[in-house]
Amino acid sequence: MATSRRIFLRGAVASALAWPLGLHAQDAGSLSSRLFQHGVASGDPLPDRVMLWTRITSPPTRSAIGPIAVRWLVAEDEKLSRIVAQGDAPAAPERDFTVKVDAGGLRPGRQYFYAFDAGGQRSPIGRTKTLPADGATRLRLAIASCANYPAGYFNAYRGIANRTDLDLVLHLGDYIYEFADGVYGDSQSIGRAPLPAGEASTLADYRLRYAIYRSDPDLQEVHRVHPFVVVWDDHEIANDTWSGGAQNHGAAQGDWATRLAAAYRAYVEWLPIRETPGAGMRLYRDFRLGGLADLIMLDTRSTRDRQVVTGNLAELAGPRRTLLGAAQEAWLFDRLRTSTREGAPWRLLGQQMLFAALSPKGQPLTPDLWEGYPAARRRVLDFLAAEKIRDMAVLTGDLHSSWAVDVAPNPWGAAGAPDAQPIAVEVVTPAISSPPLFADAAFRAHVLQVRAGAPHVKYLSGDANGYVLLDVTRDRLQADYFVVPTVRTHLDMESRAARFICERGSARLVSA
Ligand SMILES: [Fe+2]
Repeated sequence: MATSRRIFLRGAVASALAWPLGLHAQDAGSLSSRLFQHGVASGDPLPDRVMLWTRITSPPTRSAIGPIAVRWLVAEDEKLSRIVAQGDAPAAPERDFTVKVDAGGLRPGRQYFYAFDAGGQRSPIGRTKTLPADGATRLRLAIASCANYPAGYFNAYRGIANRTDLDLVLHLGDYIYEFADGVYGDSQSIGRAPLPAGEASTLADYRLRYAIYRSDPDLQEVHRVHPFVVVWDDHEIANDTWSGGAQNHGAAQGDWATRLAAAYRAYVEWLPIRETPGAGMRLYRDFRLGGLADLIMLDTRSTRDRQVVTGNLAELAGPRRTLLGAAQEAWLFDRLRTSTREGAPWRLLGQQMLFAALSPKGQPLTPDLWEGYPAARRRVLDFLAAEKIRDMAVLTGDLHSSWAVDVAPNPWGAAGAPDAQPIAVEVVTPAISSPPLFADAAFRAHVLQVRAGAPHVKYLSGDANGYVLLDVTRDRLQADYFVVPTVRTHLDMESRAARFICERGSARLVSA
């Protein structure tokens, strides 16, 4: 890229001197005022650092533009006067002009404010928080999943954004949906067009899809005020993804490996994830939450074997079938063992698919549950039992409904039988705006029938959108299920639908 075609912008002193040839001063002005249209975000906090994110929004001529200089700063105060860290980070076309900074040298358990400068413009001022050092007495996490832009307004994101008491937002996937307009939500119903109009399958498609989602003011605001820890589900790639393909992938979408790589690249460009150089495509990672809990984030999609066709019980039972893949499974076991040995009161598993059993005869309702991978599920259960790992909460997205479930190896076992005793709990968060599970009346009847025969399912509601607020102390977990009255209109309103508490040592969720 010839130097004459680059733009070098340096904070407030940046000038229009170096705008690319062909851009008039007037264009430069409008470019300047449009530089931060996708807001700011922070994520993957540690006690001494946090990832900061922004994107330089460009004019139509952006393809001719080289890297754009961006300055970032972190301060203790909202006016950004007590600066504690700062630096430069280019916005490069190779990364869709997204900027990610691992801002270090921070103090644990502190709120910070941050911003980016480029082209004489300042981004919105973000607020973030480092993780506490060991000795924390309380944590609060909001748990979100399944935001469908054309299907509904992100009112639930606004509810999370309104909170001032959070340490983190956990996003368990389906941050976007790859579908073409009209397949699952459409641009006509409430006027939210999921560009591109066709199905997202190329790098350019995924980037544009993220850009549209991130144009939403509620999503921008929740990112602006809270750090996120995210992991993907299938729709950041294609419906019902497995390691070698997806239900929603065929010859028309080209080579699978190319599509998966494009989806991953756009995901890590647009989300404030700390990437590990040389690690390839890896999203599983863990966080030590103030010595109160260890948060273990799992990728159950890109690593799993292909789903078994319903009814093929012989293949379903295959002892080598994997959900996490060998490397991630070994890592999970190591993390759980270490967490227990080091005495963390709680282990939190952030992941996508329902872990608890629903089918006494081992015939999963759908292959997209851990029950669809019985050998993999059994290996986890056996490990938990063998290592005496307790006080674990599985945090699950994907189901577009709210669940509180006690997890036992055999919840239908005789009372008093060892394998009938719960060893963990599971909290499923409702969708932000995807159609709730019970929007389909037939599914509603079917699932409620299943629930009637599943005494370990303490709560199931599939009528509304919302999120879960998880409050953690040394002695108990508390899950509050918040719902919004509608996603068909833009509304700032929520209510608490349920509260469940798990006392440490009990492995049982109790309505409170
Ligand atoms: Fe979803």
